[in-house]
Amino acid sequence: MSCPKTDPVICTARLVLRRVRPEADFAAMHAILSNPQAMAFWSTPPHETGAQTRDWLAAMAATGPDECDDFIIEYQGRAIGKAGFFRFPDVGYIIDPAMWGQGIASEALVPIIARAFTLYGQARLVADVDPRNAGSIRLLEKLGFAETHRAERTWCIAGQWCDSVYFALSREDWQARA
Ligand SMILES: CC(C)(COP(=O)(O)OP(=O)(O)OC[C@H]1O[C@@H](n2cnc3c(N)ncnc32)[C@H](O)[C@@H]1OP(=O)(O)O)[C@@H](O)C(=O)NCCC(=O)NCCS
Repeated sequence: MSCPKTDPVICTARLVLRRVRPEADFAAMHAILSNPQAMAFWSTPPHETGAQTRDWLAAMAATGPDECDDFIIEYQGRAIGKAGFFRFPDVGYIIDPAMWGQGIASEALVPIIARAFTLYGQARLVADVDPRNAGSIRLLEKLGFAETHRAERTWCIAGQWCDSVYFALSREDWQARA
């Protein structure tokens, strides 16, 4: 019998959410992680080499079952992004730009957030977003996250300082919405 923490497979209306498979997911995830549009507000510049993506996939595969809950998003059998918690309580997500604006991130994150509260007992989830990242901010607000504060010059990415707007979602607020 599979363990819901180590071997979860979550099926939504259109998506399959599953753990990373570093070899099988390499080509699709490298296409996303090297795409300047997808990476415009990420915490690192677009990947320039396959080695960077291999390291990223290995790190995603290496985290322990109680400190993280991160998923590859599959659509029609194809990896189109990732969503989840590389480290609790910080939520993170990235979707192939060809799939933006179709409700994919919202659909993936609802069951992932529910697990964070119910299966992992998290009390409060957080997100750190570039204030220019309108899509990510709208996604968080749609899921019930609220802005808590802002800070300037929080990330230096490829020599350029970026700011942060911080969001949080409590278990009580999530349950009240449900
Ligand atoms: C942020 C991201 C994951 C959203 O994915 P998505 O599948 O397009 O999101 P959804 O379709 O579920 O949209 C969620 C909401 O955000 C809105 N939205 C999406 N992109 C938007 C944009 N660029 N500007 C304004 N609103 C946007 C949608 O309209 C929707 O709101 P609505 O239901 O009220 O219309 C995607 O744009 C992405 O991968 N960005 C690059 C990676 C990234 O920046 N990650 C976050 C780092 S903090």
